[in-house]
Amino acid sequence: MYRKMLIAAGFAAALIPLAGAVEGSADAGGKKNSMCIGCHAIPGYKSSFPSVYQVPMIKGQSAKYIESALEAYRKGDRSHPTMRAIAQGLSDQDIADLAAYYGTR
Ligand code: HEC
Repeated sequence: MYRKMLIAAGFAAALIPLAGAVEGSADAGGKKNSMCIGCHAIPGYKSSFPSVYQVPMIKGQSAKYIESALEAYRKGDRSHPTMRAIAQGLSDQDIADLAAYYGTR
């Protein structure tokens, strides 16, 4: 089931290039998510710092949404400290790849 979604996301990413946007690769994203799965892959997980946060499930949200959320954390428009620190270490290409990996279009 997950595999099917991944393949579908990969096809969509290959078939619908977004004009002017960095092209994301779900395969590349799958290799960059080692620093995300510690928090986002655990159903019902709550991080305890800086306070108790419900960690959202990001798998299956729209790729555009994931991309804009990561950009907002990187710019500081969204203020969760952990996600800001993580997003600041991501390039445009990393964000596009992670969005292609986690998201559906
Ligand atoms: C230390 C735990 C932790 C790690 C590691 C982490 N996240 Fe998060 N992430 C969170 C928490 C907690 C939130 C909710 C923050 C908030 O309320 O703004 C969040 C929010 C998000 C959101 C917004 C989701 C939404 O529904 O609005 C995205 C997208 C996201 N993370 C992607 C990633 C990606 C991609 C990585 C790896 C590069 C990553 N995260 C690594 C804890 C983490």
